Amino acid sequence: MSGLADPSAPALPTPDAATARHYLTVSSLTPDEFARLLSLARRMKREPSAWRDAVPGGKLAMLFDKPSTRTRVSFEAAAVNLGMHPMMLRPDELQIGRGEPPQDTARVLSRMVDAIAWRTFSQAKMESFASFATIPVINALTDEHHPCQALADLMTVEESIGSLAGRRLAYVGDGNNVAHSLLEAAALAGMHIVLATPAGYEPDTGLVAGARERARETGGSVEIVHVPNEAVAGADAVYTDVWTSMGEESEREARVRAFQGYVVTPKLMELAAPDAIFLHCLPAHRGEEVEEAVIEGRWSRVWDEAENRLWTEEAVLYALITGDWRGDRAG
Ligand code: CP
Ligand code: NVA
Repeated sequence: MSGLADPSAPALPTPDAATARHYLTVSSLTPDEFARLLSLARRMKREPSAWRDAVPGGKLAMLFDKPSTRTRVSFEAAAVNLGMHPMMLRPDELQIGRGEPPQDTARVLSRMVDAIAWRTFSQAKMESFASFATIPVINALTDEHHPCQALADLMTVEESIGSLAGRRLAYVGDGNNVAHSLLEAAALAGMHIVLATPAGYEPDTGLVAGARERARETGGSVEIVHVPNEAVAGADAVYTDVWTSMGEESEREARVRAFQGYVVTPKLMELAAPDAIFLHCLPAHRGEEVEEAVIEGRWSRVWDEAENRLWTEEAVLYALITGDWRGDRAG
């Protein structure tokens, strides 16, 4: 073979990309890294001014192929807090919307900005995109994962009930992207998580097997059941999410039928531990997956949870861009 590149050969991942640190799934973190991100987020929340301009002049590209309130605003606000310039890029305004390959977009943006947050459909597409980027790529939600949400979730549990290891977490509803990241996070933190889903809506079996493996190392556990009462009995925190995620709208009627009996009601919450909290990633559908009396009741920590998206996004941006996971350079 001559040294000339074959013009018909597919593009290969960028060599430098091997060194870029991304956040695409919770399971890409070690338990220590997960704990460090939560610690950074707590410090940022306690003393926000100490982190002002911790990434001076940095630039964050934000690509959102699905709607977002919390993720979009928290990334934008976190970037501003750190002294960065966020750029919200709508796919219909980018060449990607006219067919430019994502791997070309990844390589071009890598030459211009310091990190990319992307919300899209396919996790495989996200991973392929990241393999071409030489800067951190952060998963702002795919059909399969929502790793940024899980950080805010466990930060909120820790704030409300103390250290995470050995605590019991119940998830009632769809084995979706939020459930996947939550169970991976619970396993990393040494928690006992029980998910109650209707038959046919369980979380991915390979992902559950990986989380169980991790839980064996951390002293946690992962259990899947089909009866909400079993999951919630004695739980320290009860979590739910929508029955129909973005992109699944055509399945809505079938899902509403399948999920009857998986509503988080005050009666269900009474089965949990006496000081149990209620969490929801939001947006919530009152009267579907959760009753008004729960989301507006004494158990609910959903507004703290939403706020914690800001501090955990700030921690992720800071750690990935600077490589300083201990927060030694600031704070
Ligand atoms: N929880 C969450 O990710 O909300 P948004 O869809 O509003 O970003
Ligand atoms: N499971 C939901 C989460 C929204 C933040 C969805 O993907 O639509």
